Amino acid sequence: MTTLPDTSNPFPENVDQVFTHCRVATMAKGNYGIMENAALAVSGKSIAWIGPMDALPETLGCKMVTNCRNQWILPGFVDCHTHLIWAGSRAKEFEMRLDGASYADIAKAGGGIVSTVKATRAASENTLFDLASSRMAHFLTQGITTVEIKSGYGLDLDTELKMLAVAGRLNKACPQHITATFLGAHALPPEFASRSDDYISEITQVMLPAVKHQGIATAVDAFCETIAFSREQTRQVLETAIVLGFAVKLHAEQLSDSSGTAMAAQMGALSCDHLEYLSTEGAEKMAAHGTVAVLLPGAFYYLKEKKVPPLDVFRRLCIPMAVATDLNPGSSPVHSMIPVLNMACLLFGLTCEEALAGATIHGAKALGLADRKGSLEPGKDADFVIWDVASPADLCYLTGITPVKMVVIAGRTEHRSV
Ligand code: NIG
Ligand code: FE
Repeated sequence: MTTLPDTSNPFPENVDQVFTHCRVATMAKGNYGIMENAALAVSGKSIAWIGPMDALPETLGCKMVTNCRNQWILPGFVDCHTHLIWAGSRAKEFEMRLDGASYADIAKAGGGIVSTVKATRAASENTLFDLASSRMAHFLTQGITTVEIKSGYGLDLDTELKMLAVAGRLNKACPQHITATFLGAHALPPEFASRSDDYISEITQVMLPAVKHQGIATAVDAFCETIAFSREQTRQVLETAIVLGFAVKLHAEQLSDSSGTAMAAQMGALSCDHLEYLSTEGAEKMAAHGTVAVLLPGAFYYLKEKKVPPLDVFRRLCIPMAVATDLNPGSSPVHSMIPVLNMACLLFGLTCEEALAGATIHGAKALGLADRKGSLEPGKDADFVIWDVASPADLCYLTGITPVKMVVIAGRTEHRSV
């Protein structure tokens, strides 16, 4: 089912740019929303108009006209779950997993997230900035125009603040829109070994107020899992975050069912992420509270998981499904949305339309940004990608190439393929 946008509006005045002769998948309302033989007008940083070519006035009266030669325009990808700032490599652990060690075994032996914490603590802010900005530059070539970035490889006040400061610098230096999320409750730092409640107090009493004071994150996340924090500990973190005015989200039900999702949804979480082990009761709480399900097939693939998230339940309960890279050095070193779309279809069973909605409008919903990002509609930010593909489904079907022609963010052309 496709939905056509309202084209009853006449072509507006004061348009700066028009993209003509294109095919558009608006992704509005989570459907392709296909318009063939269309044009898209931009005014300043926003989309001013989308309509049929034959509704264009004879003289456009604007400086820039781009003939898209029948190529496809889709909203820029919204990557609503990344851990994009880190130092070091976990290739050794990848080899250990190939030899049979599990992600949980490695974490219990002091590797995993904690090994990235060591490297990230040791790196200077400038080094972290350089590493992360080259990842952001690569993301741009992959059509990713909005990025959520989590802290969580510091696990002490200074390094968590350093990571969030880097996210703030990236937001100024890179063309993409970045949202920063505090993930202090990602793993237990070694200096708090066997004292996880004390670390939770450090987060609620010291770290969260400091992050709030500096205004460098808008959301708070935690890892609710047997190898990380209990539901009760997670609840304390999210409760304090809500009191301080943060949006909340949760890594939940990734490796086992800790019922973190039901709790977070009842607290008004924007999203719960991973969800392979989610129960129907947990999903019902998500539906009741409007929580988005963020699916992370990259982590499922790299960890060779077997249990897929309950898609049929999400569909039955009309829970929006977002799809994100989960870019991180351990469970998902995937630097592009294209393979993630492919994995979402082949490993989880999403349709191409669902996967693309997941990486656009539902990703925006998971960040509370659906009023500005994630679909092509007049009034929304002019963030879009021109793709040299035969159909939108090609973006899920093809891997190993990224057929980007042009990436436009806030009305500016930020990348062109050569
Ligand atoms: O989303 N699950 C917890 N956090 C990350 C993994 C981070 C890491 O392994 O470094 C995730 O998969
Ligand atoms: Fe994650």
